[in-house]
Amino acid sequence: MPAPVPSAPPAPSATGAAATTSTVGDPAATRPARILLSPADVGAVEAEAAAGAVTSGWFAPAGPDVSGFEHELAERLCRRHAVACSSGTAALHLGLVAAGVRPGDVVVTATFTFAATVNAILLAGAEPLLLDCDPRTGDLDLGLLGDAVRRARRGGARVTAVVPVDVYGRVTAHERLLPLAGELDLVVVSDAAESVGSRRLGVDGAAVGRASAVSFNGNKILSTSGGGALLTDDDHLADRARHLAAQARRPADHYLHDEPGFNHRLSNVLSAVGRVQLARLDEFLARRRETRERYREVVDGLDGVELLGGHDDEGDNCWLTTVLVDPGTGTTPSALLRSLDRSGIEARRTWAPLHRQPAFRRHRSVVTGAADDLFARGLCLPSGSTLCPDDRERVVDALVEAVRRAR
Ligand SMILES: Cc1ncc(COP(=O)(O)O)c(C=O)c1O
Repeated sequence: MPAPVPSAPPAPSATGAAATTSTVGDPAATRPARILLSPADVGAVEAEAAAGAVTSGWFAPAGPDVSGFEHELAERLCRRHAVACSSGTAALHLGLVAAGVRPGDVVVTATFTFAATVNAILLAGAEPLLLDCDPRTGDLDLGLLGDAVRRARRGGARVTAVVPVDVYGRVTAHERLLPLAGELDLVVVSDAAESVGSRRLGVDGAAVGRASAVSFNGNKILSTSGGGALLTDDDHLADRARHLAAQARRPADHYLHDEPGFNHRLSNVLSAVGRVQLARLDEFLARRRETRERYREVVDGLDGVELLGGHDDEGDNCWLTTVLVDPGTGTTPSALLRSLDRSGIEARRTWAPLHRQPAFRRHRSVVTGAADDLFARGLCLPSGSTLCPDDRERVVDALVEAVRRAR
């Protein structure tokens, strides 16, 4: 999901909470600050880290903060290697290419995801095969995988990889996916853009598969404003990814390139921000979990409204809490979104399935209607770690009021 674009950017405080400045005679001064979906939780520490990197002399996409960030990230996400990248999309693209996906290959992925997943596959020159999702969690529907791959192969397609997606921060069911992918001889490159800090059955989201990509976009749980990383335990893949990410340049006294490459590295300045954000990850996780618990209490008392994933938070960093609204309530996600917006609250509809998007509908897909249903019923609520208890109650009150009014 892209970072939300606030109509009037709030000034971040040390805790990241939006501040309003009182100006005599200005009606906007008395209006409560707009509550955003998932703003970056940044303040003085991040500003200091960025300033330190700027004055250190390392103002390029290389330097001690890049290597320090990569080392700390790999350790925290339980991988041997991390390659810091300019975005999660770049990391996923890099991961696919470094894992051996070639132009003309077919790569299986979810239709219920953000466009970046498929854009990365297309950037690698491969063709996506879109699979529908588990109606309860939004995770890839693994019941469809075997038949879809075998059918495509019978038709002559070279299906080589699968990209599962950690939907709204919840780690894919790797205990089922990995053996199945092994049987089907598929390389797993996981889209863990949203799941930094999540663990399912003791395994980090970013530790699933041959490689995984995480995002540090402005709306993610940990942000460098823009950025991402490729994670892997494979030494060869990591070396190749580093090489490709820096224009595939070999050491020489002239510009020597042994194959076409990309410019996918993260800058030293943003890596410095990433290091302090990473040190705060547990704090971010705790706040998002608290918000999930409060929303759960409220939703449990609202007929026709439930949480995506139900009561099962296994492997979920609670990045975005999403409600599913039954048509029997008399309201819709769109109507709720507009109603919350009028109260100064930003919400976001769940992804419109990619097999319906003008950009992707010509690609192969196997659909059951589950992603359509999640799109028809889903609404993501403000979930950021800057959300203070008072603002959370503003969201709760506005949601309850909007649902009750519709009956
Ligand atoms: C599921 C998913 N995949 C990939 C991406 C791409 O990450 P980025 O925005 O850092 O390129 C995002 C985030 O925007 C995402 O939500």
